[in-house]
Amino acid sequence: MPAAQAIVVSRHGGPEVLVLREVEVAAPEPHQVQIAAKAVGLNFADVYERLGLYEAAPPPPFVPGFELAGVVTAVGRDVTRFRPGDRVAGATRFGGYATLVNVSEWFCFAMPAAATFEEAAGFPCVYATAFHALYNLGQLRDGMKVLIHAAAGGVGIAALQLARQKDVEIFATAGSDEKLKVARAHGAHHAINYEKEDFEPIVRAATKGRGVDLVLDSVLGEVFRKSYRLLAPTGQLVAFGAATMMPAGPRPNWLKLAWQWLRRPRVDPLQMIGENRAVSGFNLVYLFDDRRLADVCFGPLARLWHEGALKPLIGLTLPFERAGEAQEALRGRRTVGKVVLTVGTPAATSFSHDR
Ligand SMILES: NC(=O)c1ccc[n+]([C@@H]2O[C@H](COP(=O)([O-])OP(=O)(O)OC[C@H]3O[C@@H](n4cnc5c(N)ncnc54)[C@H](OP(=O)(O)O)[C@@H]3O)[C@@H](O)[C@H]2O)c1
Repeated sequence: MPAAQAIVVSRHGGPEVLVLREVEVAAPEPHQVQIAAKAVGLNFADVYERLGLYEAAPPPPFVPGFELAGVVTAVGRDVTRFRPGDRVAGATRFGGYATLVNVSEWFCFAMPAAATFEEAAGFPCVYATAFHALYNLGQLRDGMKVLIHAAAGGVGIAALQLARQKDVEIFATAGSDEKLKVARAHGAHHAINYEKEDFEPIVRAATKGRGVDLVLDSVLGEVFRKSYRLLAPTGQLVAFGAATMMPAGPRPNWLKLAWQWLRRPRVDPLQMIGENRAVSGFNLVYLFDDRRLADVCFGPLARLWHEGALKPLIGLTLPFERAGEAQEALRGRRTVGKVVLTVGTPAATSFSHDR
């Protein structure tokens, strides 16, 4: 069995619990491709997992990571779409922080010729998330008004680029003025710093009191409550994250978390019926075994990516070994776009966004 380097969550805790270890990698199963990673994409959930706040994660020790890009080194006997030497991006249910990874062929994308490995590693998860929220659940169509929170983050930038495929009016929120600039550059028509200003009256006034048709909420807390109130009749809020529950320090404050848990927003179906409003939620991590998800999301995404309509924004690149530092930048809201680890390249080209 070939050996690989992997970043392992050795126990729950701060960034110091991430350790580099050698692991053995099995031969790819019939429908898997084996990828020698050149870059690994980070996701917000990786941080929750390390902290012990992610229900779907296995108990430590485990290898986190949902996505990577690299070169195919071997394929399972039933794989027809890829061959050794292909440049691919892939999504995996954990195990992505490694130099050699087996990925289901259904969750792999052929890379566009112009894409870098860093861009490709930042593609699968955030675009699939944004696509599912905007198009599968949100049924985005021309003429809609859409509100996207945390719009300068990984999912946020993907959502802006995907929303722009329709003739819609986009309201974006972000936590700093620099992030607002990034959101505007990626298609937001209105950008609001929700740390400084109350977005609810601003959006209400800009829509002449009507509100918006679709909200993408990965923040929850007060942001959810205000966003729900901003829904126009037949409007929908799609909830898919709880960034407000991310600890402000490298370790959880259990008392504060318990309070936030008790105070989490609740929805009332009777109220939704009376108001013609809808709330939906999803977590792709529970759909990884479902090939339909790949068919529904990945087909159109691959086409748009290859046509050049989508381009991941990579805000911070660090070497593989500095995964803890990269995760802490993500936890601390200091990043825009995607955070990516490079494998086997000595230098980091890094841009860290200070609030
Ligand atoms: N359900 C799913 O299938 C799924 C899949 C992927 C991602 N997600 C969720 O989507 C969201 C975006 O994921 P991502 O990986 O692209 O991360 P990201 O957006 O790049 O980073 C998270 C962002 O959340 C915002 N935020 C608001 N309150 C925060 C707080 N108290 N602490 C830290 N950040 C806070 C920050 O942006 P501002 O400073 O602009 O507020 C931060 O940059 C996350 O909530 C993630 O859990 C869900």
